Amino acid sequence: MAMNRLFAASLLLSGGLALPAARANSDYISSCGPDWMAVNDVKSNHGAIQRIGYNTAVDSFCDKAGGITVGAGAYSSMATRVWLDYGNNPETTGLNGWVYFEIHNKQSGTHVVDATSCKQYLKKLSENTSGNSCYGPTNKDTKGGTWQVGNDAVSYHALANKLPPSADAVDTIITQSGAIAALGSGGKGNILDPFPTYAFNDVTPFACHSHNDYTRDKALYSALSAGCISVEADIWIHGSKLVVGHTDPGSNGQTFTDLYVNPLKKLIDERKAIFPAKPDQSLSLLIDFKNAGSNTDKAWDQLVTDLKPLRDAGYLSHWDGSFKQGLVTIVASGNAIKDQSSSTPSPIAKALSDATNPQRAIFVDAVIHKDMSRFDASNAYFASAKWSDAVPNGLPISGAAKTKLDEAHSKGFKVRYWDIPGKDSWQQIVDSGVDRLNVDDLQYVAGLEW
Ligand SMILES: *[C@@H]1O[C@H](CO)[C@@H](O)[C@H](O)[C@H]1NC(C)=O
Repeated sequence: MAMNRLFAASLLLSGGLALPAARANSDYISSCGPDWMAVNDVKSNHGAIQRIGYNTAVDSFCDKAGGITVGAGAYSSMATRVWLDYGNNPETTGLNGWVYFEIHNKQSGTHVVDATSCKQYLKKLSENTSGNSCYGPTNKDTKGGTWQVGNDAVSYHALANKLPPSADAVDTIITQSGAIAALGSGGKGNILDPFPTYAFNDVTPFACHSHNDYTRDKALYSALSAGCISVEADIWIHGSKLVVGHTDPGSNGQTFTDLYVNPLKKLIDERKAIFPAKPDQSLSLLIDFKNAGSNTDKAWDQLVTDLKPLRDAGYLSHWDGSFKQGLVTIVASGNAIKDQSSSTPSPIAKALSDATNPQRAIFVDAVIHKDMSRFDASNAYFASAKWSDAVPNGLPISGAAKTKLDEAHSKGFKVRYWDIPGKDSWQQIVDSGVDRLNVDDLQYVAGLEW
């Protein structure tokens, strides 16, 4: 509750209307920004992961900006990494994002940036002073904002953004006639275009599964920003297109190719990894088949076609007598499993033949709480179920539920439950040996230790 009040207060200020009329219109904070950033660097996962706080980002910008001449009316800008704490404790909550720094010279003469002054100005926004409403004392965070130098002569802006900039301004200062803007979608819904493949260089992977990934702020990008090694897309067949959505979005929906195949291809082409900080780490792409009946087979064939660029490039895990780990592991779920409601489900026939499953590069999702005898390492990679079906007695996972968990592991499967308990139970679920934590609110995986 306290946090909500703080948020509301800052929103008011960011409109610029709540400032006392008596304040001198010189050397002052004129507005607060849109999102909370941790002020100090934060360590998580037993101190092994370092998140970049606002003050470190300011130092990095001002050290680069020092000595730069900003012409009349121009902006000198740079975006750099910062930890967005979502208005919560930054040690347990947040996502890797960006802070956009801008020095806007509104004078008719030039402005030469002094590194020391630059740091002083921008750190006004992160100081715990009575006049600074952009600061959050509870979590030691800041919304950033704008510091006006002199009589509104030069503005020093620091604005958080979940997305990288469209311009080539990451850790590089550019001077132009306008401010930098966030990367857009290229008209294709919530995918970033061009996909910013550099954005995960410093991300440490974690065993989270981005449930209904296409519903995130940005498909794939948000999950990889959190370090998730698994994402889920629900697919529907329309002619020769696979479209993505929990309910059928129709033939004009976003395509599986645009949302996942093309960005992943570009990511691995350019970085030779999903997460360069752990280059062998693969990403699981769970594809939930929504169509039933003969359309299941049509969707399967289309998936095989759509995956061709990844398959031909050698990026997919596959089975050729033994499991060969690729950077992307495709796992078909939903109606790609036959007789799901019976006691002995099995992969659909298309999954089991080299003719319809080239390279045997599509694995399926075994049903963990049922007879798994029809699934093995040649055809399955995950073993999943709804939490309440598979672990009816809840935490700790014990008895029959534990026996099935161990059985899945002995068969080489990664275990994932969906509809899991709330975030207070997540650490215990991870500690129980569950391989993929099924999450919607990606910012809460930051507090987990493994
Ligand atoms: C902020 O300043 C107030 C007033 O000086 C002080 O009581 C409080 O402990 C400070 N909080 C933080 C988080 O530094």
